[in-house]
Amino acid sequence: MLTLFVDKPKQSSLMKTLIVYYSFSGNNELLAKKLQALLNCQIVKISEPKRRTGLTIMLDLLFKRNPKIGPVNLLVSEYDHLIFIAPIWAGRIATPLKVFIKSLDKNITNYSFISLCGGSDNRKVLSELVYLTGKKPLKLLEVTVNDLLPAGTAIKQTSFYKVKEEDLLRIEDILHHFIRQTVPVIAPSAKTKN
Ligand SMILES: Cc1cc2nc3c(=O)[nH]c(=O)nc-3n(C[C@H](O)[C@H](O)[C@H](O)COP(=O)(O)O)c2cc1C
Repeated sequence: MLTLFVDKPKQSSLMKTLIVYYSFSGNNELLAKKLQALLNCQIVKISEPKRRTGLTIMLDLLFKRNPKIGPVNLLVSEYDHLIFIAPIWAGRIATPLKVFIKSLDKNITNYSFISLCGGSDNRKVLSELVYLTGKKPLKLLEVTVNDLLPAGTAIKQTSFYKVKEEDLLRIEDILHHFIRQTVPVIAPSAKTKN
């Protein structure tokens, strides 16, 4: 697991959070829904009108294509913190999420990025995020497939591992830590008295 705390949240009160995710084979969808249940926040999925395949992933990467994505019927500017969740393909953020972030035209207050990925060399992801948003993320969290497996059962071929609900129990601490760092709550003393 790689975790990088890059920037301090710019707000101290309860932040309105939105999870925006893309998932091809379901792993990041499970993670996004798990985090949504913990945060009790809004969630939206990036969809694609065209069928996605392994081949179209490679073609997107090879020809730097920007795939068409479905409409997101939410006013993203109403949220203080966007949590982007998506797989990493060949060291890059999955293209459908990239297209969505690009469409925001750098109008983002706070954001974080989480990927449930295979665990290869993903050093370019941070610079991609900065390029797309014009700022650093509050937090960049890479959870690898092997982080989800019992100790001593690490696998080499992580790309095709289908994550199960119970696997995510192993990263609950990581998710709670993420929430504590990125979603500040109003301190009890600051609450208005009746
Ligand atoms: C074509 C392809 C390329 C991939 N490249 C990477 C990579 O560069 N780094 C990495 O950590 N994982 C890589 N992976 C693994 C995926 O990020 C991982 O399987 C992820 O959990 C899939 O998410 P999804 O089920 O939400 O689509 C790759 C997977 C595929 C299919």
